Amino acid sequence: MSEATLGGRFTFPGTSLTIGRMGYGAMQLAGPGVFGPPKDTDAAVAVLREAVASGVNHIDTSDYYGPHVTNQIIRKALHPYPPGLVIVTKLGARRPPDGSWQAAISPQELTAGVHDNLRNLGLDALDIVNYRVVGSGHGTEEGSIAEQVAALAGLQREGLIRHIGVSNATATQVAEARSITDVVCVQNNYNLAYRQDDALIVDLARAGIAYVPFFPLGGFTPLQSSILSKVAARLGATPMQVALAWLLRRAPNILLIPGTSSVAHLRENLAAAELDLPDDVLKELDGVASSKAA
Ligand SMILES: NC(=O)c1ccc[n+]([C@@H]2O[C@H](COP(=O)([O-])OP(=O)(O)OC[C@H]3O[C@@H](n4cnc5c(N)ncnc54)[C@H](OP(=O)(O)O)[C@@H]3O)[C@@H](O)[C@H]2O)c1
Repeated sequence: MSEATLGGRFTFPGTSLTIGRMGYGAMQLAGPGVFGPPKDTDAAVAVLREAVASGVNHIDTSDYYGPHVTNQIIRKALHPYPPGLVIVTKLGARRPPDGSWQAAISPQELTAGVHDNLRNLGLDALDIVNYRVVGSGHGTEEGSIAEQVAALAGLQREGLIRHIGVSNATATQVAEARSITDVVCVQNNYNLAYRQDDALIVDLARAGIAYVPFFPLGGFTPLQSSILSKVAARLGATPMQVALAWLLRRAPNILLIPGTSSVAHLRENLAAAELDLPDDVLKELDGVASSKAA
């Protein structure tokens, strides 16, 4: 796959890490509810190998997916890792045996989380670690994250982490993190229908910081909109492809990590990078968010 078909290249600020803008999010590879193993581990391995064979060099994960399962599948599928592959992980939660999501945000828990990721991925250092702020996934829970970001900066000085990002963070928390250390990416909930971070994306673009939407397709409830379906039918594309192409056009610092457990969906999603959206279509698609807000 050529560079252009992956939506062009992006270099994380102040780093030598350059990736295709169309990446892959591995959360869907764990079992139901992101807990336990998948029904078919070989199928999960096949998705990862297909992604990398197609030129994807940005994979998003966490050791709390499974827990441990997704990272172990990534290692099984791809280790030793091809040069240039950037694996981004996140810390801030743990999964007790009942499958619930609990905060794991003390410096000790963050350090243990880094070691879990290193061991399960088979790495000596993690390319990028996001501190994922506890909360619903809407990036609205204010509160200082200074202690956690400082802990990650300490692990960076030890050489266990190369670069730091934040996730599920408000604009105030992003600013606080940036006052403590260099932040290379922000990973928040954002898509055609959920656009709370419109202003933040513009601010981050000015600083060259990547904005990586999670739930780019709507997450556990994939996007449904008559406007989206109509536009897709007119363009001869699928609604999911239009949703991804819209994100690529939305801002140059947006990097995509759509999640799927299916090779067919993966191929469909990667092909979205080739979809051209004319300006009038972009305007029409703005209606998806306003019709939802109405
Ligand atoms: N930082 C955070 O708090 C956070 C939170 C959530 C996710 N993430 C990261 O963001 C990544 C993306 O989010 P996500 O995976 O939750 O949601 P998503 O990418 O918005 O959507 C994934 C869902 O869409 C389906 N899907 C994917 N491609 C499709 C297609 N072409 N046609 C129809 N359905 C399709 C998937 O099912 P199939 O498996 O059947 O394709 C899955 O149910 C995750 O994988 C994870 O790495 C981060």
